[in-house]
Amino acid sequence: MKKTILTGFQPTGAIHIGNYLAVMAGIRQQQEQYDCYFFIADWHSLTVDYKVEEKRAMIKDLIAILLASGLDPEKCVFFRQSDILEHAELAWYFNCVTPISFLERMTQYKDKAAKNVKNINAGLMLYPVLMAADILMYDSDLIPVGVDQVQHIELARDTAKFFNNRFGETFKAPEPLLTDMPKIMSLTEPTKKMSKSDNPKSAILVADEPEVIMEKIKKATADEVGISNLLGLGKKFIKNFDAADYKDNNLKLKTELAQGLADYFAEIREKRKEWLTKDAEIEKILAKGAEKARSIAQKKMDDVRRKVGLK
Ligand code: TRP
Repeated sequence: MKKTILTGFQPTGAIHIGNYLAVMAGIRQQQEQYDCYFFIADWHSLTVDYKVEEKRAMIKDLIAILLASGLDPEKCVFFRQSDILEHAELAWYFNCVTPISFLERMTQYKDKAAKNVKNINAGLMLYPVLMAADILMYDSDLIPVGVDQVQHIELARDTAKFFNNRFGETFKAPEPLLTDMPKIMSLTEPTKKMSKSDNPKSAILVADEPEVIMEKIKKATADEVGISNLLGLGKKFIKNFDAADYKDNNLKLKTELAQGLADYFAEIREKRKEWLTKDAEIEKILAKGAEKARSIAQKKMDDVRRKVGLK
């Protein structure tokens, strides 16, 4: 029996190379090896401030990048979270077995609440419960995520336990699947994680054209930490990389790194543009994915409704 892999992607803005390497880079291989579920976590993305008129374009861009990165809808189940209403229903049953104290101690919740004092909505706190519903719905074994999500997967394991103890064996406990990629740091403040929201010049986007990459890398901080960060990127993106070649030659390092990045993402960059023109085809892909996901979710929910005593 193949193991089941599942992961969600939040449409919250342009995808940078750190986002890409954390999870997306693994998709192509995973879908050869496992039963895969990949989805757009659009409900999760509503828990922080956003502009309504920008959301659709963000979703479309994320889908285009996933397809351009080799996600193959014939080999995996690819869908939008909001197309499968059962996720929200399951999250409700989970809300009713999750102690609030478990949610209050989630570090991502605390961080986001501290940064968003004006909008600490209930969804922000319940976010990991919805994530547990996404995961447990499909009996997932492995969840590819960045390290920031590991605590949420532990919560999903707890949720499975709470539910099973109360209502009988129903859900399987998942495990995180972490890549061995080092953290990708900001170009402008190399002690911080790369983040497009802090400073647009600090992050290389997957969609950046070669000139833009060159410009950003040229302006990257070149103090000791900065150079060590660029060397780390070089190891990944420069062919036949040897750190000795760049000793006392920052310009050579920056030029070759920018070139390496431009080459590495060339195919994704071009395919993304093609997918952005194929709205009808994308709708068809999502409709088919939703149909597959829904048939599994409906079966699971029949069982859950019976177990909790509603049916
Ligand atoms: N919270 C995840 C993130 O921000 C996205 C997500 C939602 C997810 N549901 C999921 C990831 C289920 C893995 C499994 O990256």
